[in-house]
Amino acid sequence: MQIIRQPAAMTAWAKEQSKAGHSIGFVPTMGFFHQGHLSLMRMAASRAALVVVSLFVNPTQFGPQEDLAAYPRDFERDSTLAAEAGVAVLFAPDAADMYPKGCSTTVTVGNELTSQLCGVSRPGHFAGVATVVCKLFNIIQPDLAVFGEKDWQQLAVIRRMTADLNLGVEIVGHPIVREADGLAMSSRNTYLAPSQRESALSLSRALALARKLAAEGERNTARLTAALRDFILSFPETAVDYISFVHQHTLQELAQADEDTVLALAVKIGGRVRLIDNGRVLG
Ligand code: PAJ
Repeated sequence: MQIIRQPAAMTAWAKEQSKAGHSIGFVPTMGFFHQGHLSLMRMAASRAALVVVSLFVNPTQFGPQEDLAAYPRDFERDSTLAAEAGVAVLFAPDAADMYPKGCSTTVTVGNELTSQLCGVSRPGHFAGVATVVCKLFNIIQPDLAVFGEKDWQQLAVIRRMTADLNLGVEIVGHPIVREADGLAMSSRNTYLAPSQRESALSLSRALALARKLAAEGERNTARLTAALRDFILSFPETAVDYISFVHQHTLQELAQADEDTVLALAVKIGGRVRLIDNGRVLG
C-alpha cells in the first residue's frame, strides 16, 4: 500500500490508473479505524479495481466547541489495517496542503437538507463536510465512493452535492456496522467511560422500541417521540439532542411514520460524548 500526502501526487496517481483502465473506489475517513470503516473499504474493493482511502481529520467540519484537537488518532495502526483490507493508496494530506493560505471557496448544500437534525447543534458542519468531500473527489477522481448509513444526513448531503454539481461519482451507501450488543461503531465510542457504555445502548434500544411500537400500530410520531424520550432518559447520564422521524431522502419531519421513514437520534452521554444512530421504523 502506498501512502501519499500531497494532493498533486494523489491526482497524478489517479490519472495514471484511469489511463490504464483501472476503476477507483474511494472511502473518505477521519481515521481511527473500526470495523465500520474496514467494511466500507471491503465494499469499495468488491466494486472497483483499486481502493483509495483518505485519512484526514478535517478541521472545517468541527465547531469551535468541538473535539478537533482531542479527536482520536493512530496513524500506524490505521495504515496497517488499511493495508490488510487491500487498500492501494492511503491519502493522508496535511491541513496546510488541503487548505492553503488564501483558500476561500466553500460548498454549501441547501437548508432543506442541512438546517435540521445535526445541522442544528453543529452549524457549519455540513458545509465543512461537503467542501472537503468535493475537494477529495476532485483530487482522487474516483468512479465510486462509499459512505456509511450511520451518518444518514451526511450521506443525503453528499448525494445532493454530487448530483447538483455533476461530479460524476457513484455514491454507495453501506449499512450501519454495530457491536454485538447493538451499539453503532464510532471513533467517538472511545470517549465513553466504562460506566457510560450501558447508556450508549439507549440509542440502538430506542430504535428497537420504535420498531416494536410501530409494528403494534403506533404511527403517530409525536407519541412515538414522547415514548422514546422517556425511554432514553431512563438511562443514566443521557440528554436528548434530537429524536426525529424524517423522510429517508428529503429529511423532512413526518407526522406519521411509514415505509419511507427514518428515525434519527442524537444523544449526549455524560454531557460530553454525542452519539448518533438511525434506522427505518417499518419495512
Ligand atoms: P468518519 O467519521 O471517519 O467516517 C468515515 C465513514 O465511515 C463515513 O462514511 C461514516 O458514515 C462511516 N462509518 C462510521 N461508522 C460507521 C458504522 N458504524 N457503520 C457504517 N459506516 C460507518 O464521516 C466522516 O469521517 C467525515 O465526515 C468525512 C466523510 C470523512 C469527511 O471529512
